[in-house]
Amino acid sequence: MSRLAGKTAIVTGGARGMGEATVRLFVEHGAKVVIGDLLDKEGEALAKELGDAAIFIHMDVSKEADWTKAVAAAQSLGTYNVLVNNAAILLHKSIIDTSAEDYLKVVNVNQLGSFLGIRSAIEPMKAAGCGSIINVSSIDGLHSSAGLSAYSSTKWAIRGLTKNAAIELGQYGIRVNSVHPGGIYTNMGGAEFLSEEKMSEMIYADFPIPRVGKPIEVAYVSLFLASDEATYSTGSEFVADGGWFTGMRREGSPCS
Ligand SMILES: NC(=O)c1ccc[n+]([C@@H]2O[C@H](COP(=O)([O-])OP(=O)(O)OC[C@H]3O[C@@H](n4cnc5c(N)ncnc54)[C@H](O)[C@@H]3O)[C@@H](O)[C@H]2O)c1
Repeated sequence: MSRLAGKTAIVTGGARGMGEATVRLFVEHGAKVVIGDLLDKEGEALAKELGDAAIFIHMDVSKEADWTKAVAAAQSLGTYNVLVNNAAILLHKSIIDTSAEDYLKVVNVNQLGSFLGIRSAIEPMKAAGCGSIINVSSIDGLHSSAGLSAYSSTKWAIRGLTKNAAIELGQYGIRVNSVHPGGIYTNMGGAEFLSEEKMSEMIYADFPIPRVGKPIEVAYVSLFLASDEATYSTGSEFVADGGWFTGMRREGSPCS
C-alpha cells in the first residue's frame, strides 16, 4: 500500500469532495499531503484526523502569495514532487446572463489558479529531479453543456495548459496530465440536492455505467498519475466518466 512512498503533494480544494478523497487515498499510500483550501473548518479537521501525514493551509489558488505559502508547507513535509490542481468553482448561467465579472471569477480560480500552481511547482520539482502535476479538468473540457460557458472554457483551457506544460517540463522529469471526471457525487455534482441513489436513477440511468460516480473513482486515477507507475505518461487526458463521452444506452435498443 505504499505506491506514493517518498512523495509530498499539494492537493488544492482538498477539504471536501474529490480533493478530500484524493488526500485520503494519497496518505493511505504513503504520501505526505498539504491540503490547500478556503474551507478552514473542514480542512483543519481532515488534517487533524490524518496526523503527521497532512497539514492544512488556508489558500486561495488565484492568489500568487498563497502558492508561495503552499510550496513552503510542502517543503516542510518532504521533497515536493506532486501537485493536484483540483480546486474549482462552477457557474451555471447562459452566455447572455454571464457578466464579465462572473466570467473572470471562474477564470481566476479554475484557470489562473492552475497556471499559478504549475509555475510555482517548476523550480522545486526541477530540484527534486522529478514531479507529477495532475490538472483536474472535466468532461466539460472535452465537450460542453448549456449554461457552462465560463466553466467549460476554463476546463478546455486547463487541457491546453496541460499539453503546453508537458512539452516544456518533460525535459526536467516533470510529467503533466489532465484528469476528466464525469458526473461525480460531490457538492459541485449536486449532492446537496439529491441522494446518490435518486441522482443515479434520475440523471445517469442511460449512461454506459448507469450511476453517478464516486469521488474515490477519480482519486484512483490521480493516484496512478502521481505514482512511478505512470512514468511514461505526460500531456495526456485521463477520463473517468462512466462512459458519458462514449455515448448513451437508448431505451428499446438491444441490451438497454
Ligand atoms: N463533481 C463533478 O461532477 C465534477 C465533474 C467534473 C469535474 N469536476 C472537477 O473536479 C474538481 C473537484 O470538484 P468537486 O466535485 O470535488 O467540487 P467541490 O465543490 O465539492 O470541491 C471543490 C473544493 O475546491 C475548493 N475551492 C474553491 N475555490 C477555491 C479557491 N479559490 N482556492 C482554494 N480552494 C478552492 C472548495 O472550497 C472545495 O473544497 C473540480 O476541479 C471540478 O471542476 C467535478
